[in-house]
Amino acid sequence: MVSAMAVSGLGFGQKAIYKDAGAPVQQRVRDLISRMTLDEKVGQLNQVNGGVLTGPAVANDPGQQGKVKLLKEGKVGSFLNVVGAAQTKEVQRIAVEESRLGIPVLFGFDIIHGAKTIFPIPLAEASAWDTEGALKAAEIAAKEASSMGLHWTFAPMMDVSRDPRWGRVMEGSGEDPYLQAQLAAARVKGFQGNFDENHVLATIKHFAIYGASEAGREYNTVDVSRYAAWNYYLPPYKAAVEAGAATVMNSFNLFEGEPASGNNYLVNEVLRGKWGFKGMVVSDWASFGEMMAHGYAANETEAAIMALKAGSDMDMESGVMRNTLAQSVKDGKVSEALLDAAVARVLELKFKLGLFDNPYKYHDEAKEKASLLTAENLAAARKAAANSMTLLKNSDNILPLKSPKSILVLGHLAESQNDVLDFWKGLGDHKNTVTVLEGLKAKYPGATITFVKGVNRDGKLEAGAEAQIKAAAKKADVIVATIGLYGDLAGEARSLGNPEPSKGQMDMLAAAKLTNKPLVVLVQAGRPMIITELMTKYNTILYTWIGGTQHGNAVADILNGDVNPSSKTAMSFPVSVGQIPVYYNHYNSGRPHKDGNEGPGDFWVSRYRDTPNEPLIPFGYGLSYSKFEYSDLNISKPEINQNESVTVSVKVKNSSNVDGTEIVQLYIRDLVAQPVRPVKELKDFKRVVIKAGETATVTFELPATKLSFYDADGNTLLQKGDFKIMVGPNSRDLSEVKLVLK
Ligand code: GLC
Repeated sequence: MVSAMAVSGLGFGQKAIYKDAGAPVQQRVRDLISRMTLDEKVGQLNQVNGGVLTGPAVANDPGQQGKVKLLKEGKVGSFLNVVGAAQTKEVQRIAVEESRLGIPVLFGFDIIHGAKTIFPIPLAEASAWDTEGALKAAEIAAKEASSMGLHWTFAPMMDVSRDPRWGRVMEGSGEDPYLQAQLAAARVKGFQGNFDENHVLATIKHFAIYGASEAGREYNTVDVSRYAAWNYYLPPYKAAVEAGAATVMNSFNLFEGEPASGNNYLVNEVLRGKWGFKGMVVSDWASFGEMMAHGYAANETEAAIMALKAGSDMDMESGVMRNTLAQSVKDGKVSEALLDAAVARVLELKFKLGLFDNPYKYHDEAKEKASLLTAENLAAARKAAANSMTLLKNSDNILPLKSPKSILVLGHLAESQNDVLDFWKGLGDHKNTVTVLEGLKAKYPGATITFVKGVNRDGKLEAGAEAQIKAAAKKADVIVATIGLYGDLAGEARSLGNPEPSKGQMDMLAAAKLTNKPLVVLVQAGRPMIITELMTKYNTILYTWIGGTQHGNAVADILNGDVNPSSKTAMSFPVSVGQIPVYYNHYNSGRPHKDGNEGPGDFWVSRYRDTPNEPLIPFGYGLSYSKFEYSDLNISKPEINQNESVTVSVKVKNSSNVDGTEIVQLYIRDLVAQPVRPVKELKDFKRVVIKAGETATVTFELPATKLSFYDADGNTLLQKGDFKIMVGPNSRDLSEVKLVLK
């Protein structure tokens, strides 16, 4: 009878190396893998949903009892959607105390923009152009999430997108690769900290190029060139790898005809090869198995092998690895060494988080209770929301509303706690939210505030609404009307073919306008809507996006001037659906249209006959209660070589009587290059506080390296020649100066 000690290969009293907290991680990993059966190894690559569905139910779902059985057999490496200090502790207890090797599980969840205290949606946060604020928000989210037993968030999402028909534009940072990259890196750092128990593992997602889903239709084909991939879509993921993100999530889509989950070029060549990513790659929900629906894998066995060989590791929910991989190794279809490499990447994370030494460090109910919805977190969320709301028009100077005696509030969205949260609300509870109506009542306690619903959640005009509005307006100093999309329409599987305000909402506004009372329109949506008619007919428009737990207080802070708006949209607003995709960093074409400046000879140019080329609202646009005037754009020298940098300076005067924050933007254009370059590329920005009446000199250091770009193989190109350096308040209203790269 071989003693258990002999089997474990340990001398009497000797502790297994993997249990030795003092041993190097790699040694502990190797030791543990040497003790694991094939099934236990495959088990580490198995991620199982243990809570709410965030994707379609799968055929391989083992059911609750089945999941507990798998857990005891050491066949679950991670759970998603299991949350709460108590619940996760019990699951962890089973994993650690009732399985043969006691390997702890990882708990993952979509903490996208807050855990319990919900911040503005990332697209709104992006319009604050505030990397410090984004880092802070991620830190707060991580502290709340980790107190709830979570080790890992499936965030930040950093998919560049130019198509507001796609419901997930809310989840990223808009159309520009540079802004998206800066924010992605900040959020990674905020989520992860130093991998202590107040932080969580971050996920780079969705790798890659999911934001280019054709026609903005969810889960649709992606078909972009490598040149476009490298210059428009990949930079944010690269920045997040450089920021030290621990994990990456495959995207659902194809790239070059191959699903991202099994795409050797994306995962092995780019992510792991060129960028040196050593962390773990998890599939998106069932995306390994979906390689069969794509028509790429003939069966589960092939799908699992393709994913593993491409460099992807953990199977979220599809079960194809659980079902087939051990047999494939036995059949020699895939090497055990490859399996071990993937298992090692999972185990390394668990050792790095200290889960083998203290598996219950994330499961403290008292800490959980003390960490959630704190006054500090709520204040940070309120400030972030106010900084994210974009003032699009204030041409009658109605705002700020200093001391109205009576306010008439219109629209379902103004009273709806549900709709200030989006689909990716994390663990946010609508019961904790502040609506516009509540925010205004708190801000103007002496005012009479009347509410008329006007339109319901689906945007339909309520019977008698126009008469109600007319009557109620008689006693109102000002009307504040809310239109837009309900919160749950922002997120996954929420593409819209026609993202514009409903007829009922526009009728409600028309009724309000007929009263001739000052009218403030609030637009609440998780995407740029088609608001051409709105911008034409109404003079005071605040795009509130979806502000999260403190939405209503943030709106009130702006409306009364406690916060001077500074937000600048991170996505262009199209004039019409027909104009999509419209984005600022486009190529010039061989027959460029001089929108608005065309002459008689400009017929044969790149344009529509019925629609302008320029968006309704350009990338980087937003107003303030202050008035900023730019002048004296200067460059320290007219030419530089490839190892030099140049200092760009501009004067910005705040000619108003209100202190304000201006987001000063710097763009370049490489006038002649092979391949061609866009007419503009954002390369730097600064949030500058400028006091009333004062002038700031804003300077940027522009190294020659920022004039570079990628070729189709991801090699960096820096080509001599003429450049334009442009600076201004948005991507349209720019002053420029020449620079020569020698
Ligand atoms: C979803 C999403 C992904 C999310 C995952 C888990 O389908 O695409 O972003 O992290 O499943 O909820």
